[in-house]
Amino acid sequence: MCRSRITLPAVAVFLPLVVAVATPPPAGAYDLVRVHRTDADTTTVAQGKLLFSRHCVACHGVEARGGVMGPSLASGDFLYGGGDTDLFRSISEGRPDGMPAWSPRLTESEIGMLVAYLRSLQRAP
Ligand code: HEC
Repeated sequence: MCRSRITLPAVAVFLPLVVAVATPPPAGAYDLVRVHRTDADTTTVAQGKLLFSRHCVACHGVEARGGVMGPSLASGDFLYGGGDTDLFRSISEGRPDGMPAWSPRLTESEIGMLVAYLRSLQRAP
């Protein structure tokens, strides 16, 4: 009787704590893109541009205008969709007709930067 009066408040205090710690954070790959998207500042875009010139230019051409092997990514016309999640998937998982998968060669954060860069091209006149 007396014991239950002591343990019940203790459970009430510690149970939410345990639940809060045990619950995984909701941030997944696609949330990360949204984060990069919302603060797609010039630094993020510049980092994406650098990554693009290192890994993607060979196929997609200068400023992603299209190359010998890869289609233009600057026209705003995407076969697999131009949304953040679509672009993220195209880059991380690859696409069947010759687009290599970049995960895990590139981190989620780097892929987010590339998405921000491709977005900036679509906003450009
Ligand atoms: C080996 C050549 C090659 C490289 C390197 C390459 N791509 Fe691609 N990419 C392609 C080809 C080919 C396609 C078309 C795939 C298809 O139609 O199934 C494509 C498709 C895409 C698409 C989807 C386009 C659409 O119409 O929906 C995106 C986005 C993309 N690439 C981004 C990138 C980025 C970013 C990089 C650098 C990290 C990169 N690619 C590197 C060849 C390449």
